[in-house]
Amino acid sequence: MIRIENVSKSFGGLQAVKDVSFEVAQGSITGLIGPNGAGKSTLFNIVAGLFPPTSGRIVLDGQDITGLPTHELFHRGLVRTFQIPHEFSQMTVRENLMVVPPEQSGENLFNSWLRWGRVREEDTKVLERVDEVLDFLEISHVADELAGNLSGGQKKLLDLGRTMMTDAKMVLLDEPGAGVNRTLLGKIREAIRRLNTERGYTFCLIEHDMDLISQLCDPVHVMANGELIASGPMSEIRQNAEVREAYLGGGVSGHMGEDA
Ligand SMILES: Nc1ncnc2c1ncn2[C@@H]1O[C@H](COP(=O)(O)OP(=O)(O)OP(=O)(O)O)[C@@H](O)[C@H]1O
Ligand SMILES: [Mg+2]
Repeated sequence: MIRIENVSKSFGGLQAVKDVSFEVAQGSITGLIGPNGAGKSTLFNIVAGLFPPTSGRIVLDGQDITGLPTHELFHRGLVRTFQIPHEFSQMTVRENLMVVPPEQSGENLFNSWLRWGRVREEDTKVLERVDEVLDFLEISHVADELAGNLSGGQKKLLDLGRTMMTDAKMVLLDEPGAGVNRTLLGKIREAIRRLNTERGYTFCLIEHDMDLISQLCDPVHVMANGELIASGPMSEIRQNAEVREAYLGGGVSGHMGEDA
């Protein structure tokens, strides 16, 4: 569904991503791991249209989307979450979900003026969808809290909820488990799994928590120093000498897990 073709990115003299190619197959939950500074988030930023690559291409459903802006990708069903959640802290959880829907007629004053009947009808639909998302993620009890007051894990759930308000088909998740307690992590894991199996979402997910990766992802791609160094199921990745070396050499913020 997404094909990353020979993508490189330099920031001044620093080559953050070096000639990386891999595919995210439709219906998969594909993992992207690697030590801190490996270039994972940079690659996501390129795929999500934050900035173009220095060279290489991104292909979505057979169409070249390299360099297309984020809102254009959004309309094609590609959305992402950030390593640090981007919630509107002074708005409630419910309001945070309400501002997401694409192609809401109300976003354009002229449209809303001309077609106010339709706008009001859509509002009701949006509210229904918000309730459904709150329910799905089991965060209805904090619906009227200010988003800024949520715990780190609840913010990650809200982030996931925001992707559910769109007609997303391809979702990039940057560290959905970072700083999240075990209970919430289980919830996030099950939400991702259900969105994948029940709603047909395709995921590409960056994570340092190797348990989460091995429970959800197949295949897994490994980056180190900007390069793709291994790809395969997690059971194989764990055994890979180059991968182990990369984690040991780069300062271990996630370990490879004990068993194999
Ligand atoms: N906008 C930027 N300008 C300059 N350098 C950047 C920029 N974004 C990232 N880098 C550098 O590119 C390299 C890769 O960073 P990136 O954030 O992609 O790593 P990462 O794999 O996501 O790491 P982490 O696991 O810590 O999140 C790092 O050396 C980083 O300092
Ligand atoms: Mg990162």
